[in-house]
Amino acid sequence: MSSQSQATPLGSLKPLGVGILGAGPVTQAIHLPSLARLRDILEVRHIMDVDASVAESVAARVGATHSTSLDALLGDPDVDIVAICSPHQFHADQVIAACRAGKKAVLCEKPFAMSGEEAARISAVSEETGVPIIVGAMHTFDPGWLAAEANWGDLPRTAHTIRSSIVLPPNARFEDFATEIITRPAGGTPDYNDVEVIKNALRGGIMGLAIHDLPLVRRFTPDFEDLEVLQARHVRPFGYVISLRAGNQIIELRAAMNSTWKPEWVFEAISDDAALRIDFTPSYVQAGSAVATVTTGTTSTTFGPYEHNGYEGEWRELAQLARGTKQPPSAESLINDLTFALSIADATVDVAAAEFAGARS
Ligand SMILES: NC(=O)c1ccc[n+]([C@@H]2O[C@H](COP(=O)([O-])OP(=O)(O)OC[C@H]3O[C@@H](n4cnc5c(N)ncnc54)[C@H](O)[C@@H]3O)[C@@H](O)[C@H]2O)c1
Repeated sequence: MSSQSQATPLGSLKPLGVGILGAGPVTQAIHLPSLARLRDILEVRHIMDVDASVAESVAARVGATHSTSLDALLGDPDVDIVAICSPHQFHADQVIAACRAGKKAVLCEKPFAMSGEEAARISAVSEETGVPIIVGAMHTFDPGWLAAEANWGDLPRTAHTIRSSIVLPPNARFEDFATEIITRPAGGTPDYNDVEVIKNALRGGIMGLAIHDLPLVRRFTPDFEDLEVLQARHVRPFGYVISLRAGNQIIELRAAMNSTWKPEWVFEAISDDAALRIDFTPSYVQAGSAVATVTTGTTSTTFGPYEHNGYEGEWRELAQLARGTKQPPSAESLINDLTFALSIADATVDVAAAEFAGARS
């Protein structure tokens, strides 16, 4: 069993009330199944969605109140913890409103902001109100990752290569989830000869998919001021191959949809004499934790699989934050994670545009 689950105050106190803003697929397929396993510590009390029929039907599944208004949810005294699962463009304002409403903790689905300016506003409000915020980067709450972190020694200092590789089956709905920050062009097939389509797909890939693992990458590259994109390629229909350099380290980000490969979600860090490999379960899949293997010289040690995954880990952490039994992550660390992702997205788009122009001239 993970140290995370041992530390959770199970059962002895009245469950904390959860209110959810936005009741789409992520709420329905990810958070409600996770919360259903944690009924002794967390209870869904209020579902808000701008679509009244969605709010009503999802709330009915869990016996919660429903509404279509942010103020109604934030004004509900039964709600202790707010989860923000609306589309990304609403995240920053809703995080700020939840903090100002004096809630005990806030979970914001990734990405929690889309610009440095939004991130700075969140940081100021978080400091002013002291409300703990976590971002739904579920891999950072996965017991497999946490076990690796406790056992990887000085790998963050010695690693020369950090790699995130994601292979997903073709799935138009999944593609929409992963690319939710771009608009799927009407009529289906995008025009891959249009540089704007390529730029949007790459930005969407980074801020929608790679962003799950960028906080992990940043643990190995805390200093990313001199980040440089060496190569950036869009992979059809939805994917990317991006190589970056930060100081002496090489970062490789890869994603592909391929009907001939099994789904795979792997994070690796490699030094001259040690290596870490973590196999994560794909998003939406509730099948236990990641499995981590730490190799030093010729000796390998495997950690996991543990019973729960990072989604459940997020909720366990939120309960602890709301009870004040755990220190929240610093707002600075969340801002740095976002700045890291935005810098990679900006630099990638610039390099891809230059490569595109070069290929055409
Ligand atoms: N952690 C993960 O594995 C993961 C995976 C995919 C997406 N996500 C993130 O989760 C969030 C939700 O994803 P989704 O696929 O369910 O999104 P979605 O867009 O399909 O659904 C969101 C729901 O929010 C509602 N909504 C729209 N505007 C709203 C508002 N202003 N306030 C409240 N509700 C509003 C919509 O009616 C819809 O029912 C996104 O931010 C996405 O990036 C997380």
